[in-house]
Amino acid sequence: YQKIGVIGAMKEEIELFVQHMQQVRDSEKAKIHFREGSFHGKTIVLCKSGVGKVNAAVTTQVLIDTYGVDAIIFTGVAGAVDPELNVGDIVVGSESMQHDMDVTALGFPRGTIPYEETSLFASDNKLRELAVHAGQELFDGRVKVGRVLSGDQFIASRETVSRLYTELQGACTEMEGAAVAQVCSMNGIPHVVIRSMSDKADGSAHVNFAEFTVQASENSYAIVEHMLKHL
Ligand code: ADE
Repeated sequence: YQKIGVIGAMKEEIELFVQHMQQVRDSEKAKIHFREGSFHGKTIVLCKSGVGKVNAAVTTQVLIDTYGVDAIIFTGVAGAVDPELNVGDIVVGSESMQHDMDVTALGFPRGTIPYEETSLFASDNKLRELAVHAGQELFDGRVKVGRVLSGDQFIASRETVSRLYTELQGACTEMEGAAVAQVCSMNGIPHVVIRSMSDKADGSAHVNFAEFTVQASENSYAIVEHMLKHL
């Protein structure tokens, strides 16, 4: 890859990249701030998309059109959906889907985008393997490859999170990944979503999110840093 887009939704999720990039050049498009520069000898374009699928989709298309990235890595935090996952653990997205896409009234299964070929957007094999390798080296295998469920909702209820697990087989839930994945798929650009768990998307999610977002962001950064070093 010649130029890699690195997206985080929030300040905490990109902070360590900001601190470690060199020869940076800043610019703005669609009110989104982009920082192009060098990171472990690779050219990256770092940006904070803002929260939610619309922000993530616009950011991804701008990264592709205006900055010419040829791969995209999303880094950040998520709520654990798979009950085996604990705070701090890492999910490497195998594919992602929009859990809040709901056209069930017309007979489409939950999460299905009507009239599209697919509603599940797969990550790139090579990027995924790099991430798994990073997880083995840095986190002693405490890494799960699984499905990322995205929606414009902060999930904070035991009933909802268990439904996301049983009905949609999610590993984790967040608010951007599937939008990035779909836009990448529409443009033929490889991507992967890396997420470390800040909470368990249950009744304590808001408290845990506040407490563990910085630590989980550091874990996700560590994986992506290792990936970029080994590219
Ligand atoms: N990001 C981190 N935790 C989350 C949750 N519980 N729901 C949605 N997005 C999240």
